[in-house]
Amino acid sequence: MSERILIADDEREMLQVLSRLFSKKGYEVHSAHSGEEAWKAIEETMFDLIISDMAMEDLSGLELLERVRSVDSTTPFIIITGVGTIETAVQAIKMGAFHYITKPFKNRDIEILAQRALEYGRLNRTLQNIRPQEGGGDYTKTIIGASKCMQDLLRKVEKISDSLAPVLIEGETGTGKSLLAEKIHQSSSRKDGLFLTIDCGALTETLLESELFGHVKGAFTGALRARRGLLEEAQGGTVFLDEICEIKPSTQVKLLRAIQEGEIKPVGGNRNTKIDVRFISATSRDIIAEVGRGGFREELYYRLAVIPLCLPPLRDRREDIPLLLDHFLHKFCKIYKKKISSIKPDVLDMLLNSSWKGNIRELANILERGVLLAENETISMDCIVSSDMRQRKAAKGSDDGPVLSLKEVVEEAEKRAIARALKSANNNRSETARMLGISRRALYDKIAAYGMNV
Ligand SMILES: Nc1ncnc2c1ncn2[C@@H]1O[C@H](COP(=O)(O)OP(=O)(O)OP(=O)(O)O)[C@@H](O)[C@H]1O
Ligand SMILES: [Mg+2]
Repeated sequence: MSERILIADDEREMLQVLSRLFSKKGYEVHSAHSGEEAWKAIEETMFDLIISDMAMEDLSGLELLERVRSVDSTTPFIIITGVGTIETAVQAIKMGAFHYITKPFKNRDIEILAQRALEYGRLNRTLQNIRPQEGGGDYTKTIIGASKCMQDLLRKVEKISDSLAPVLIEGETGTGKSLLAEKIHQSSSRKDGLFLTIDCGALTETLLESELFGHVKGAFTGALRARRGLLEEAQGGTVFLDEICEIKPSTQVKLLRAIQEGEIKPVGGNRNTKIDVRFISATSRDIIAEVGRGGFREELYYRLAVIPLCLPPLRDRREDIPLLLDHFLHKFCKIYKKKISSIKPDVLDMLLNSSWKGNIRELANILERGVLLAENETISMDCIVSSDMRQRKAAKGSDDGPVLSLKEVVEEAEKRAIARALKSANNNRSETARMLGISRRALYDKIAAYGMNV
């Protein structure tokens, strides 16, 4: 069913132009030649969007807006103003208009504005139905994505899930690589087997090898007893090698051999064990460039990337944002037992147009904060802008206190920066390292050196 737009203007020509424009775009358009006529239509029909001229003889745009708001608080309302009436336009926003547009305007501008307003209306309608629910709905494993690129990807995933072919997932941080890896495992015939993740960037070379292949007692300092490797532990299941680009060359050689021969040898040992695992790997780096640079072995790349998948960044699939909003709002309302019934237009605008460098994780974090801090069931900018930022601003300027050595000052500053980055990255180490501009290993070293409790 197409969406219904009411256009009110007592200038015949303008009314025709706009009606034609929106009809051509597939909307169901109703036109009203006066404010009163518009009001009559509103009383009889539910519209998804109202566009009204400000200056109409019988009933001004503002008066019409006021009447509409007295019976319905959500239908988006766009007001068309002449030049030099910015104050009335601001007043309209205060009275609950979605936005205003100043004459003369380009068709494209009003079209985009209308699209956003309709989106806003749709979202607010779903919000009306979001209440904290008991039980039901597993939000953790659902992959949301209606955009063409995500639909193509998910279709491909469905086809390949059941094969045993190794999958390599590329994508920026927070695009859902880990989520997708688990989804692939769960829709495969190995779903009853284990799904084990190895974070290749988090471990030193020795520890990574011992994680993968296991070790015998005394293989290295600290190897007090023998341990089975995860490749053996995951027998019959799936091993997820996260941040695969971080693997050191010598370990790459060993991994390649293990895959080629289907067997592994524990560190320090010499007995081979057969392995039967499916490999899924992921990286947020440009692995082809790494191969070109000689940092990643080409043969290993071809072994792991039999099925290459690429998760597009959120800014390239903005049409998924409203769905994700809906998804995360449900999720967090449920977790925090809150109800959200509206989002302020400026917040929505920000959510729809932000560059989302941290992708879906960043979006989720912001919404979590928004839900937690919402007042009167409304998410406003205040809930979204981090209170951290405000506190930091307030705290600035108080630089009294004990005199510290330069080293202590640096350490203190590093500790704080790390703690803050960890917090805003939700303890995700890769993202934290990236935010701080250091390698993951350097991050781990610093956390250990400062004895930070994370
Ligand atoms: N399409 C999606 N639908 C719903 N939730 C998603 C989607 N993609 C990601 N998420 C959620 O966003 C968060 C980040 O996803 P995930 O950890 O899988 O990203 P990642 O690409 O592995 O990040 P990193 O590179 O930092 O490891 C998770 O909470 C995940 O559940
Ligand atoms: Mg991940």
